[in-house]
Amino acid sequence: MTTHEQYTAAFWDERYGATERVWSGEPNAVLVAEVADLAPGTALDVGSGEGGDAIWLAVRGWRVTAIDVSGVALERVAARAASEGVAERVTTRAVDLFADDLPGGFDLVTMHFMQLPGAERPRLYRAVAGAVAPGGTLLVGHDPEGMPPEAAHHHPPDMFATAEELVDELGDAIAGWTVEVAERRGRDAVQPDGRPRFLYDAVLRLRRPM
Ligand SMILES: C[S@@+](CC[C@H](N)C(=O)[O-])C[C@H]1O[C@@H](n2cnc3c(N)ncnc32)[C@H](O)[C@@H]1O
Repeated sequence: MTTHEQYTAAFWDERYGATERVWSGEPNAVLVAEVADLAPGTALDVGSGEGGDAIWLAVRGWRVTAIDVSGVALERVAARAASEGVAERVTTRAVDLFADDLPGGFDLVTMHFMQLPGAERPRLYRAVAGAVAPGGTLLVGHDPEGMPPEAAHHHPPDMFATAEELVDELGDAIAGWTVEVAERRGRDAVQPDGRPRFLYDAVLRLRRPM
């Protein structure tokens, strides 16, 4: 369990339930760039939201498990998987990252825009890394610069870590792993309300040894 309201099913079910669609439905740019050279296998999408990433992966042949705390979001993932003809390659599962064990043994574990509170981040990231199979990849992308001012009250500064800080926090949980990418990458983006914004993604890509 978490004491942070914004990581609960109630919070996210209400947010998703308030509108037909919260996110663009497009995959994250970091995912598209970093997965291009990987052969499809099994993937775990942590905090999948409405499935922009999970569906993109499934269309490309990955067998994806989408996990999220919000049942409303997961219903959207399943509905979209069906409408895109990839239902047999997409599994949804309600998981509270703070409280539940994660499924494991994935060739790719991908987690985007899942900013986590600093005090619990090392423990949670280690659990996420533990879901990667030997030889597999952990890919993380988020905006380490913080939120636009109007959203800042939901997002205290300690929720924003650079890729290098994440490597430090993972510590011995990734001993022997290869750090393939740990960088800050700029791009043009569009906010959910349609306004343009230039942002920086923290990009972390790690490979677990066989
Ligand atoms: C900012 S959204 C990102 C969604 C998607 N990854 C993307 O990049 O569009 C964060 C997601 O994390 C999920 N989430 C929040 N708290 C969670 C928790 N405790 N366990 C699992 N998922 C959680 C939310 O329901 C939401 O879908």
